[in-house]
Amino acid sequence: MAAILVTGGTGYIGSHTCVELIQAGYEVIVLDNLYNSSKVVLDRIQTITGTKPKFYDMDVLDRAGLDRVFAENHIDAVIHFAGYKAVGESVEKPLLYYENNITGSINLYQAMKKAGCKTIVFSSSATVYGDPEKCPITEDSKVGGTTNPYGTSKLMNEKILEDTAKPDPDWSVLLLRYFNPIGAHQSGLLGEVPNGIPNNLVPYIARVANGTLDYLRVFGNDYPTPDGTGVRDYIHVVDLAKGHIGAVEYALHHKGVEHINLGTGIGYSVLDVLHAYEKACGKTLPYKILARRPGDIAECYADASKAKKLLGWSAQYGIDDMCRDSWNFTLKNPNGIE
Ligand code: WQD
Repeated sequence: MAAILVTGGTGYIGSHTCVELIQAGYEVIVLDNLYNSSKVVLDRIQTITGTKPKFYDMDVLDRAGLDRVFAENHIDAVIHFAGYKAVGESVEKPLLYYENNITGSINLYQAMKKAGCKTIVFSSSATVYGDPEKCPITEDSKVGGTTNPYGTSKLMNEKILEDTAKPDPDWSVLLLRYFNPIGAHQSGLLGEVPNGIPNNLVPYIARVANGTLDYLRVFGNDYPTPDGTGVRDYIHVVDLAKGHIGAVEYALHHKGVEHINLGTGIGYSVLDVLHAYEKACGKTLPYKILARRPGDIAECYADASKAKKLLGWSAQYGIDDMCRDSWNFTLKNPNGIE
């Protein structure tokens, strides 16, 4: 059974991916510095799957520690989630973000190379497309024009991995470009727990729904979209996690670099999502229309046909499932995972 190192494996997407990996028969080793998550997640993964992953409480900035992980385990592939991901925070703390997301990643890639492990699935983001020329977005669309250090660090990681693989045909690199992950595991045991006031739409709506925030601030209703509010490609985090199973399988049997969108191909507006969440929670949720948020784009949704063709994967859950599962997690974890 292949062994997969999952960096950031106690995080939101990482923990859901660990569940799917274990249930698909992989051995999972988790490395996380717990900056944005809790060790309790490992117990919850065990509750769901019956298996508690081997865990290293470690920072990807610890190069010697990374060498030890590869020395102590035979790792067939790495899924690299570990990284800071708050767009707003990245603007305020660029050096922290570049140190963690770039220096930390380079440490990991060097440790992999040294250990002869050259198979990696990288957690990239649709943010690398900047303000897309057109939607749906295909993988050969122009990249660049990122408007924050978080997004720029994702694009830089793609370039670093592309350049690493160029002279060495032994590398297998899958760069997965996530659209907007939302929702939670159906058990209510895993879900998104942002630090502080949520930047992202659905975690914010969840807090309005459970009464810990007064109303949703809708950032602009004057975009060139059907109802004037921003349109995004929301994807259930379990669909996203399942996409990583196809990606690891593909990466273990192919060489070279592939960029792959993981999205549903369907765009929903802010108000569409708000109304779907009202259905899920059975309440009317208050909102106010405010000015556009700097750096936001009108619409962004995927052409997901390459993932279907290459990985045999497509998203199965719709917006109602995503909001239902998000609300279920919120109800069961009023204080997050602790
Ligand atoms: C979605 C829509 C907002 C909050 C970012 C990152 C991306 C990924 C997902 C990590 C937009 C509107 C939001 C609110 C609102 N992150 N909105 N009120 O900006 O599309 O993408 O998060 O992988 O890389 O760039 O997501 O959820 O912040 O915003 O009206 O309180 O909701 O204007 O139209 P975004 P988001």
